Amino acid sequence: MTFDIVEKDRPLRAVVVGAGYIGGEWAPELLAHPGTELVGWVDVVEERARAAAGKLGLDDLPVSTSLTSLLDGQEPDFIVNCTVPQAHHDVTVTALRRGVSVLSEKPMAVTLEEARSMVAAADKARRLFAVNQNRRFMASLVAFRRTVAELGALGLMTSEFFMPYRGPAFLGTLEHPLLQDMAIHLFDAARAVSGADPVSVYCESFRPEWTWYPGACSATAIFEMTGGLRYTFSGSWSAPGQATSWTGSWRASGAHGTVRWDGDNDPTTEAAEGRVLKQYAREADPYTGRRGRFTGLAEGLEEFVTGLRTGRAPQGDCHDNIWSLAMVTAALESARTGTRVPIVT
Ligand SMILES: NC(=O)c1ccc[n+]([C@@H]2O[C@H](COP(=O)([O-])OP(=O)(O)OC[C@H]3O[C@@H](n4cnc5c(N)ncnc54)[C@H](O)[C@@H]3O)[C@@H](O)[C@H]2O)c1
Repeated sequence: MTFDIVEKDRPLRAVVVGAGYIGGEWAPELLAHPGTELVGWVDVVEERARAAAGKLGLDDLPVSTSLTSLLDGQEPDFIVNCTVPQAHHDVTVTALRRGVSVLSEKPMAVTLEEARSMVAAADKARRLFAVNQNRRFMASLVAFRRTVAELGALGLMTSEFFMPYRGPAFLGTLEHPLLQDMAIHLFDAARAVSGADPVSVYCESFRPEWTWYPGACSATAIFEMTGGLRYTFSGSWSAPGQATSWTGSWRASGAHGTVRWDGDNDPTTEAAEGRVLKQYAREADPYTGRRGRFTGLAEGLEEFVTGLRTGRAPQGDCHDNIWSLAMVTAALESARTGTRVPIVT
């Protein structure tokens, strides 16, 4: 499906929805981008939006608890949905139905049914709806992806995520805190790096009896991907010692050799006998002047703005990103039923 581009000769008008942690990271991006203008901030707790705007010296910025009244009053071209996952569906669909495009934080939604109705709402409104998976823009992930592309046909890709993490309180309220909160970052990275889409999954999600989590904080999953690739994920929020990076620790093996990546630094390679593998390294940060920025937001905004102006879909376009959510929801279903689950969107 296609979306309509914005042809008006002025910066794109944007409203941030959600004035918590990540909303506070997105607003400076809208201020820094030469092609966007921040025209309002919504939060169910008005004082949060007012305080967040004040922190950026924007005391006169329109703020509201009502998304619809701010949309009607400010007529933005897009919103940045920085609300909690449970609110993603309602906020996004409300904007799309008013003809406003949406750039959303991950995950797209909580359930696949919600996500499908959001994609349908975007198609019906002919508006751009994308989810920013910020890690796709990490320089070391890009180097890993490029190097993996040198391997020829892939056989097996593995990722391990081990963290002794006590995290925010909401993690303790989830039945499967690792799968429901964190895993989508690695599942989406697996799709980005391999270029393959998921076919089916078998997953176990469980709770070691000594953990500090009430829920299943550890999981292991085997995904069949298109092209016959198998991708495995093992991880735990409750793993004292030898922590991996926040993007895990990876290995990909293919016809022409093996690539390993620690999730932070340049990948390392070993070629199959008689082969030479090209090894990519991290490129310099194009936003070096912006210290302390949250990696992947400026890049994601740039792709989204380009999309709205040219019609070229960004990486996080909803029709593609829904596959990453489908990996999570199918893994959860497999963990609950003890069966291998086909992955469809
Ligand atoms: N990409 C990343 O690495 C990354 C990092 C942090 C958070 N996130 C994602 O960003 C989203 C927000 O996370 P956070 O840490 O900023 O949460 P948060 O709890 O700090 O902030 C969420 C804000 O949304 C507001 N809110 C809730 N429902 C709303 C609604 N219906 N309308 C308007 N405002 C509403 C809350 O009042 C709160 O101020 C989550 O989906 C999370 O997964 C992504």
